Amino acid sequence: MEGALTARDRVGIQDFVLLDETTDTAFLNNLNKRFKEDLIYTYIGTLIVSVNPYKDLDIYNKKQMDLYMGVNFFELPPHIYALADNAYHTMLSELNNHFILISGESGAGKTEASKKILQYYAVSCPSTALLDTVRDKMLMSNPVLEAFGNAKTLKNDNSSRFGKYMDIQFDSQGDAVGGHILSYLLEKSRVVHQNHGERNFHIFYQLVEGGDEDLLHQLGLEKDCQHYNYLTQGQCASVASINDKNDWKSVKNALQIIDFNESNTNDLFGIVASVLHLGNVQFEPDSRGHACLNSHAELGWVSTLLGVDVQLLQEGLTYRKIEAKRDEVLSPFTIDHAIYVRDALAKAIYGQTFTWVVNRINESMENKDSSRKTVIGLLDIYGFEVFYLNSFEQFCINYCNEKLQQLFIQLTLKSEQEEYESEDIEWEPVQFFNNKIICDLVEERHRGIISTLDEECLRPGDATDLTFLERLEEKMGNHPHFVTHKLADKITRKTLERGDFRLLHYAGEVTYCVVGFLDKNNDLLYRNIKDLMRRSKNGIVGECFSAEESDSKRRPETVATQFKSSLLKLTEILTAKEAWYVRCLKPNESKKPGQFDESLIRHQVKYLGLMEHLRVRRAGFAYRRKFEVFLQRYKALCPATWPHWRGVPSDGVEVLVQHLGFLPNEYKIGRTKIFIRHPRTLYATEDAFEKCKHDLATRLQAKYKGYRAKGEFRKQKEAATKIENCWRGVQARKERERRAWAVKVIKQFIKGYMTRGEAKTTDNSEYLAFVRQSYLNRLKNNLPKTVLDKTTWLTPAYVLEETSAILRRLHTRNMVRKYVRGITPQQKAQFQMKSMTEAIFKGRKDSYAQSVAQPFADTRIGEQEINTRVLQAIRNERIKYSVPVMKYDRNGFKPRPRQLILTQTAAYVIDEARIKQRVLYTSLKGISVSNLMDDIIVFHITCEDPKQKGDLVMQCDHLFEFLTKLSVVANKQSVIKVVQGSIKIEIQAGKESVVDFSTGQEPMAYKAKSGHLMVVSTRARTR
Ligand SMILES: Nc1ncnc2c1ncn2[C@@H]1O[C@H](COP(=O)(O)OP(=O)(O)OP(=O)(O)O)[C@@H](O)[C@H]1O
Ligand SMILES: [Mg+2]
Repeated sequence: MEGALTARDRVGIQDFVLLDETTDTAFLNNLNKRFKEDLIYTYIGTLIVSVNPYKDLDIYNKKQMDLYMGVNFFELPPHIYALADNAYHTMLSELNNHFILISGESGAGKTEASKKILQYYAVSCPSTALLDTVRDKMLMSNPVLEAFGNAKTLKNDNSSRFGKYMDIQFDSQGDAVGGHILSYLLEKSRVVHQNHGERNFHIFYQLVEGGDEDLLHQLGLEKDCQHYNYLTQGQCASVASINDKNDWKSVKNALQIIDFNESNTNDLFGIVASVLHLGNVQFEPDSRGHACLNSHAELGWVSTLLGVDVQLLQEGLTYRKIEAKRDEVLSPFTIDHAIYVRDALAKAIYGQTFTWVVNRINESMENKDSSRKTVIGLLDIYGFEVFYLNSFEQFCINYCNEKLQQLFIQLTLKSEQEEYESEDIEWEPVQFFNNKIICDLVEERHRGIISTLDEECLRPGDATDLTFLERLEEKMGNHPHFVTHKLADKITRKTLERGDFRLLHYAGEVTYCVVGFLDKNNDLLYRNIKDLMRRSKNGIVGECFSAEESDSKRRPETVATQFKSSLLKLTEILTAKEAWYVRCLKPNESKKPGQFDESLIRHQVKYLGLMEHLRVRRAGFAYRRKFEVFLQRYKALCPATWPHWRGVPSDGVEVLVQHLGFLPNEYKIGRTKIFIRHPRTLYATEDAFEKCKHDLATRLQAKYKGYRAKGEFRKQKEAATKIENCWRGVQARKERERRAWAVKVIKQFIKGYMTRGEAKTTDNSEYLAFVRQSYLNRLKNNLPKTVLDKTTWLTPAYVLEETSAILRRLHTRNMVRKYVRGITPQQKAQFQMKSMTEAIFKGRKDSYAQSVAQPFADTRIGEQEINTRVLQAIRNERIKYSVPVMKYDRNGFKPRPRQLILTQTAAYVIDEARIKQRVLYTSLKGISVSNLMDDIIVFHITCEDPKQKGDLVMQCDHLFEFLTKLSVVANKQSVIKVVQGSIKIEIQAGKESVVDFSTGQEPMAYKAKSGHLMVVSTRARTR
């Protein structure tokens, strides 16, 4: 971690604790180095030193805020945001109250620092719409309070002329939920008097410069600051760095946000205007030297705006009412006295109004919820100032700074060192200047300056500022920090006027002029004026003066005493809280950027005690905590102390730090506390704690996630089971329905089946429809493909028999029609012949059946195979058919191959080139064939001519074809005879023989012994 730190220290050292040597020069060099690079913040431990850059730096944007949010203090370069964030997170984790003390001389940048911190909280704290309005109010209270309480001084163009302590209240979640402001002693004298180069409070200029015509008219004002005595004494009504017009707009807007209604604002501006008018009220002496008004116009406006009787007002400003026994006597004023009263009235009205504004803002920011809250206080009080002429106000302001320095010393240097002692920690005391002596000089009861002043104010007789000085000289005669003209040595005396006293403040010498001390301390207003104001119709004035009256039975406390007690209260408030410090340094007197006036800064470093603080920080311990608190926070880092340490807390702490590996010089164990020397040790521990928290959180998260996941899983499983059950139910119900349906259907089917033969009833109608449909469907796919297929037709159920028969007929007819349409003329002729063959032979000759499938040819011998001489011989006759035959001789029945040609008129038996026989169809009286399987044909020829050869016996392989052709050509159908047994033949005219037929193994034909032709054929195959 330290490595990271030094790596970032590119420009100088960002924590003075790490400086090599603790000399002023080294300190200033480092500050200067960083300042030149616009690095205005440097740490001394957790204290932040800020040098006013006098120019806008781009380090206050949202990005920067995000960067510093929740980051360890030393993780990033020094920044006011780091301090704000650290205070905030410590508050949240330790649930205690804190305050940030912003100190430094006038113009060092305290107010700016406090605004930056407020803005940081406004932006970085968790937010809701409701809280946003609270935050807006807190932020917007600033422009209003600055308008009424800040003014240009020689030191600072926006110098706070009142002290401000603001509590920001946070709830347990860290939300900024409310705020409360305490204000301290407004420098009222500024209302009526400003030194050269200074201005009155901003609001006057803002109203005159920014107010619109109507408003100014209503208030009787002119748009010219030069017109008003109260605005021109410093002779610098307008300043380059201030834009009154714009500021006026911001103030008006801010007033709305902090809930000022119209009547409030009217009253408020009425008061501001009335003060301006009062400043212009002039007196002149009458004949007796008494003051009287020289013009009534301005007074008229005052009385109108404050809602008081003009007459009484005039009287109040020029006469004093003295009550003598029962009478009231009016005592006229001199001009000086009248002016004094006028100014006193202006101051009183303005002062009261300022208090009223603060109260009103508090009402608006108040958080009415009574739940526990922690606070971070922001203290921005006027800085130490030294002018050429210093008066009562500077005395108070510087006293206040003295008190704050004392507090700082108490909380850091003194108590810290005392603590080491009481805790028995080895310690080499660091010497420092304790300004208690100066505080005592101012505030000690009966002996201090304030007491002396009060005594002079209250003492009867002619007490004056000078008698007061004398009293001081008497009392403080030899005080080392007090000197007057009378008390001083020769050299010093030259620097002092007779009416001056000088205090040697912690921050330097300041010479105060006693003139006005008594009056300012008394701050009295004559009774008649007070009464008049109490009756004012201006709501704010009436309210303020009545409230004052109600607790004025006693003589009111003097201003200084009031201030002293309010500072005492403030100290009490602050000591009850944890402190954080911002020490602001002013780099030069001319408000210029980039100028580092070394001697000026050296002086501030010295009086702010920064070197002492650094020494204590370096030698001391950055962190200390009670054993119990330390143990409680870090016990998770050591197994022996987690989750509980049962022994003595100090032992637990020892065990814990041993476990963490702290080196002996890094820590000390005191009586009740542990002391850790370097922040880095603490931050390493804190880092480890963060990591451990993270690990613990991860474990918790894992457990929780596991638990959630299991729960989720269980839920899902239950849901899945439920869905499954439902789904199964649905399925089961469906199944049941399906089965019920199936049972019904089956029942009906069975009933239908049983009554299938009966007439159509409700019981069987569906079954029958089903049967019909299924039969038709099956039939559709199983129809016979050919006409000849007689087997394929599906057997129908009883009810469909008739339908089936009709369909079968239709189908057959269809097939036939299709077939018939497809046959050629040749096929037709063939069929005709085949049918003729059938008519002749079917059932008569055994070989017929075999022949049916063999198609008939047109001829069996082509014309080219017939001898040309034969063709020549029969050229007049058309050849119709030729077929090879085996002719059997008539005598020996020898077989002779021959061609047989059929013409239109005759059949020719051809042997090569010769026509062996011509058988005219007319002479062909019969044709015989056997009924067996043989192929023998016998032509019975009319045999009148003995030369004529006898009957012709032939064997033809194409018996049926030949005979059918012959029948067609010669129209001999009727003469063909199928003979059973033998066939008689006429060999020659008058000479007969016989052809016998028998069956045997081998087909053959031979001349039998009987002289007959024996034809053996195979037996017909029976099917
Ligand atoms: N951080 C900063 N960045 C830029 N300018 C700054 C910063 N701080 C201060 N200044 C300048 O310095 C001026 C004086 O600062 P500021 O009013 O805060 O001083 P102060 O310490 O409050 O003085 P006083 O005691 O008189 O009220 C501012 O008006 C501004 O111009
Ligand atoms: Mg300020």
